Amino acid sequence: MTRKLFIKTYGCQMNAYDSARMADVMAPHGYALTDTPESADMVVLNTCHIREKAAEKVYSELGRLRELKRERAAEGRPMIVAVAGCVAQAEGEEMIRRTDAVDIVVGPQVYHRLPEMVAKLAREAKAFDTEFPAVDKFDTLPETKSVDGPAALLTVQEGCDKFCTFCVVPYTRGAEYSRSVVQIEAEARHLVELGVREITLLGQNVNAFHGAGDDGETWGLGRLIRRLAQIEGLARLRYMTSHPRDMDDALIAAHAEEAKLMPYLHLPVQSGSNVVLEAMNRGHTADEYRKLVGRIRAARPDIALSSDFIVGFPGESDADFEATMDLVREIGFAQSFSFKYSPRPGTPAAAARKQIPEDVKGARLEQLQALLNEQEQAFLRRCAGQEFDVLFEKPGRYDGQLIGRSPYLQSVHVAARGQKIGDIARVRVVQTMPHSLRGELISEAVRAAEAVA
Ligand code: 5AD
Ligand code: SF4
Repeated sequence: MTRKLFIKTYGCQMNAYDSARMADVMAPHGYALTDTPESADMVVLNTCHIREKAAEKVYSELGRLRELKRERAAEGRPMIVAVAGCVAQAEGEEMIRRTDAVDIVVGPQVYHRLPEMVAKLAREAKAFDTEFPAVDKFDTLPETKSVDGPAALLTVQEGCDKFCTFCVVPYTRGAEYSRSVVQIEAEARHLVELGVREITLLGQNVNAFHGAGDDGETWGLGRLIRRLAQIEGLARLRYMTSHPRDMDDALIAAHAEEAKLMPYLHLPVQSGSNVVLEAMNRGHTADEYRKLVGRIRAARPDIALSSDFIVGFPGESDADFEATMDLVREIGFAQSFSFKYSPRPGTPAAAARKQIPEDVKGARLEQLQALLNEQEQAFLRRCAGQEFDVLFEKPGRYDGQLIGRSPYLQSVHVAARGQKIGDIARVRVVQTMPHSLRGELISEAVRAAEAVA
């Protein structure tokens, strides 16, 4: 009997990858994906705990699901609700006590056991597992059967040992762990066989990757990228999220020499103040970040940089905040993500005495976002008139239109009759939009004529 599975994903791309793998795990047990909770026999909320707002969203969704569950039970069509991801890991059994909507709580390291947990519900009222097992879940996950378009995610590294004082990740995702090169390459080749042309290598701290190579040595991310770039049919590679401390020479050199590695780097700096960086336990100064960016830009001058920022970290003074603004002005980011500091239970910074008032955080965030938005617009404007290769990922709103990504990760809308999703075409940017670009196909004929002229 086919049952329907609805998965709602919150938070980062690591969660998006895990959601796809949970679908793979449940498929052999007769569960097929569906688009709405109303049509589902099982709902999984794959949750995020990074900021308070993200965790709150989960509880309001659970409130809605509770009602739906009741209606379904009255109709004699029971529905299973599972909470996965970082809220599940952080709150564990407490979630089951807090709301009766939840049947299963499953942590990010054990979702391969979901089918057993569903089976357990026939015998017991609730199922709960947030272990960090010694056995690697990646060894037991089934192969992906289908992919969602030509751009895919591939987790190569999980967890984090950095313990930034604001961050829950080391607690919810556990210690740093890298998959083996053999395992990653096999998954990448399989994705390419399924039609994938671009792979984004994922990790909470992806450039801390130190996986076992097939030569008995430990490989870094730069070396892994060079190996994967040899896969025929794979056109593009990206990776995220990186830590400034782990940007080694081999990875920087890969940006200079490996054509398949796209010129985009998400390299969070969080703050431009050394005092705040120290209190955050980031392990680098603002000047070290500046120098690092200099080295990366020397290797790949056109690289688009993006970053995360936190404003209103405990103790952040006006001068500290100004140091962040100065750093942003100096570096120039193509894209960025910025947040008000959100105290997370159990992290050192949450207990700091000098918490910053909400209105100060709000005002700083507004100022920073105005500057970051200006820089994003400036980057988009610089793309106007440029030509680059676009990988088409999905249909656009209009007939014959396709939407793809530039090498710098911007969405590009193109009137692309004759092209298919998965094609890579040469495009000239003709217009910039608030967060994306519009381009025109450059036909072979035009290119040939231009070459003669
Ligand atoms: N408050 C605000 N932002 C946070 N981030 C992580 N923890 C917190 C927190 N407690 C941000 C950081 C990180 C991004 C994924 O989320 O900027 O890089
Ligand atoms: Fe969190 Fe810092 Fe680790 Fe990034 S490096 S996941 S911000 S602890």
